[in-house]
Amino acid sequence: MCGIIGVVALPGRTPYRPSLMVYRGLLRLEYRGYDSAGVAAVAPGRDKLIVLKGKGKIEELEKKLGFSQIDGFTLIGHTRWATHGVPNDINAHPHTDCTGRIAVVHNGIIQNYRELKESLVKKGHVFRSDTDTEVIPHLVEEFYKTSSSLYEAFRRAISVIEGSYAIAMVSTIEPGKIFFAKKDSPLVIGLADGFNLLASDIPAILEYTRRVIIVHDGEIGYITPDTVYIEKLGAGPVAWEKRVRIVDWSLEDATKGGYPHFMIKEILEQPRALQDTFFGLSRDPAVEEAVKLLLEARRIYITAAGTSFHASLYYSLLTSTLAGIPVIPFIASEYKIYANTAGHRDVLIVVSQSGETIDSLMALRAFRERDAKIIAVSNVIDSAIPRESDVAIYTRAGPEIGVAATKTFTTQTLALSWLAISHAEKTGGLTESEAGELRKILEEAPRQAMVSITNTESYAKQLSEWMATKTNTYYLSRGIGVPVAMEGALKLKEIAYIHAESYPAGESKHGPIALVEPEFPVVFTIPNDEELEKLLLGNIKEMKARGAVIIGVAHEKTILSDQLDIWLKTPTTHWILTPITHTPPMQLLAYYTAVKKGYDPDKPRNLAKTVTVE
Ligand code: F6R
Repeated sequence: MCGIIGVVALPGRTPYRPSLMVYRGLLRLEYRGYDSAGVAAVAPGRDKLIVLKGKGKIEELEKKLGFSQIDGFTLIGHTRWATHGVPNDINAHPHTDCTGRIAVVHNGIIQNYRELKESLVKKGHVFRSDTDTEVIPHLVEEFYKTSSSLYEAFRRAISVIEGSYAIAMVSTIEPGKIFFAKKDSPLVIGLADGFNLLASDIPAILEYTRRVIIVHDGEIGYITPDTVYIEKLGAGPVAWEKRVRIVDWSLEDATKGGYPHFMIKEILEQPRALQDTFFGLSRDPAVEEAVKLLLEARRIYITAAGTSFHASLYYSLLTSTLAGIPVIPFIASEYKIYANTAGHRDVLIVVSQSGETIDSLMALRAFRERDAKIIAVSNVIDSAIPRESDVAIYTRAGPEIGVAATKTFTTQTLALSWLAISHAEKTGGLTESEAGELRKILEEAPRQAMVSITNTESYAKQLSEWMATKTNTYYLSRGIGVPVAMEGALKLKEIAYIHAESYPAGESKHGPIALVEPEFPVVFTIPNDEELEKLLLGNIKEMKARGAVIIGVAHEKTILSDQLDIWLKTPTTHWILTPITHTPPMQLLAYYTAVKKGYDPDKPRNLAKTVTVE
């Protein structure tokens, strides 16, 4: 749950000083964790490394320590989200060996670090931090005593560690190299002229190159300013040349583009993200392959975490509505119970924008062990989850930097709706022409999202002034609207720190209504479906009778208009687009409420973008 960056350069060949490139890369990676940061550099003419690190945000640390001013051509940097060892100066990465000649940064968890540390301590190694990472430089130091090269020592160290990792290492012993290893945590190599880069994600290096290699699990190697060496641990060198990709994201895509926060930029770019996703889906043979698997399935499961789980829940409701086929949705971290019931004729759909969420990956592997087939839905090409799946369907939302998922949710629901329609067409749940009609409606998603945003943004902003004074809310709906309401509640909770509970509205009278008192905000997601609207009428009335303030996210022709105290008006369109039309107003409400309360919506406390620890 951390960010890694590395630059190895020939003098005079980089657009900026290499240390400034590392600093800028760290700023772009800060969304991955931001409790401490550090940089290690092989400085010319020195036999010890320069290591600057500390607790705090990167910009503050830069002022205090001057990361960007370090002299040197081989550097690694790290931004941390603590797992082992509290956030403090000592636990910040990089970590070094006893001699101060080897420095390591790491994202992930070394599971067997206790045993390794014990045996290293017995051999006389002195540890300074409480981290699992620190075993790595000491292991390399130890193995180097009996190895023919530093790389051999590094390889031996990697073969004894267990767990998940993306690792970068520099050393004065071989000053012009950055060594790396990867298992279950993301790592990419960037290729440039006169220098090469290493990073946890592409946006961190996009400013300098578009030529990248995605490092795969079990690979280790090193980069120099003009060469790359990759091998599969235990299986020899890898022909990486065929794996070089040219990234077509613009740097603009990966930066704020003039907006105050990534989150608002990403909310507003949903029409474009939906357009790209629609375009991709309509040409992607993967959907057909996925439908084939679904048709052969005895049971269909779908799993994910957080926002992606809400998209999954939407899919399960949609598939039972359109195809009349039950889908078992479960939260990824609960996978053991569900995997226990899975077998070789079952299919698991794993939804993950990052493709790296460890809970979802573990669920995938547990099902895979029981011979189930796996379909991935992800936003990151070649990430772990799609790579380990039988079929991968991609959303094309572009990089999402704000910690709170926005455009990846709406694009996930679009992709999953497409899948559900294609499946229902084959089961006979939908005729060919009904399926065609629904696809045409999906094609309208970008425009409808745009109308929804345009209609509601200033209203959501006004409403945020009042919402910011509240401490508790309910987000209710029924049927297909429930996962959308759940997503609205998650946004408010995670960035505005207001308690927001979401459940199917019919449950109110079984307990939650006891909390409602005058001025209590209740946000109703009202899909364009008369049957549901009629059902919701009773739920709205029972809340109103207790003095609740009713905020309706509802289309322009809703039959409930006279029941709403506040109305966030969405366009009147088919209910299948409910996630696409109704989520943006709730994202905007959460965003402006967080800003009103003085919080940074891009970096909510205690959270990180990609959760790679169980
Ligand atoms: C909430 C949010 C998280 C993620 C969850 C899964 O705004 O972003 O709940 O949805 O951590 O992440 P992915 O989709 O990358 O597996």
